[in-house]
Amino acid sequence: MNLWADFHGNTDGPVIHKWKHYFPVYERHFAPFVNRSVTLLEIGCGDGGSLQMWKRFFGPHAQIVGIDIEPRAKEFEDDQISVRIGSQDDLAFLDTVVDEFGPFDIVIDDGSHIQAHVAASFAHLYAGLSKNGVYLVEDLHTAYWPDFGGGQGKPDTFIEIAKGLVDELNADHSRDGLLATEFTRMTHSMCFYDSVIVFERGIYTKKWAPRIGREEKKKR
Ligand SMILES: C[S@@+](CC[C@H](N)C(=O)[O-])C[C@H]1O[C@@H](n2cnc3c(N)ncnc32)[C@H](O)[C@@H]1O
Repeated sequence: MNLWADFHGNTDGPVIHKWKHYFPVYERHFAPFVNRSVTLLEIGCGDGGSLQMWKRFFGPHAQIVGIDIEPRAKEFEDDQISVRIGSQDDLAFLDTVVDEFGPFDIVIDDGSHIQAHVAASFAHLYAGLSKNGVYLVEDLHTAYWPDFGGGQGKPDTFIEIAKGLVDELNADHSRDGLLATEFTRMTHSMCFYDSVIVFERGIYTKKWAPRIGREEKKKR
């Protein structure tokens, strides 16, 4: 299935609130999970369209979970789709969702887009992803908009937090005393796109490894 080809211009189902340039990002990071027994959490259900899109994209073994503050989102429940009502910054609520359905392979944050909420959800959910899980935060243009707690260079926006995490990702190589953290150990990559950041957890424990080539050269 090609997400873009299948859903662009499809006016039959419930509305999907996605920017078109997100589709290649989804394909790139989510393709390995298609037709697997993937468990996905989407923060923010909107009109239910994206929950149906994920169900069709990931296939018959996928469990799709949506959370939303609007009680009407319960109506979007369907075969393979569960919805729980609560706020993404209510950590006790998130725990109940993880206890019931986790660990998640994929988390998509498309909720309030309030920067403090985005940061709180990420801080609480990221470490609990499955070992090769993906955490995708979208609509991060809001990190530049004051009405969402954003602003250029404002230290508590998720964009600024993520810039700091780039250093944490590379902490093993620091010669300035930057200490490796849990994030360093568990993160394989961070990808920045227009309005989107994707974190991929690693399936291995990072450690210093000899450079390929050195031993081979000595032998010659
Ligand atoms: C942009 S819409 C989601 C669109 C949907 N994911 C889609 O792609 O079709 C944002 C949703 O987040 C929900 N929301 C707002 N604040 C929230 C919060 N604090 N926690 C969880 N969901 C929230 C809204 O009720 C709304 O349904």
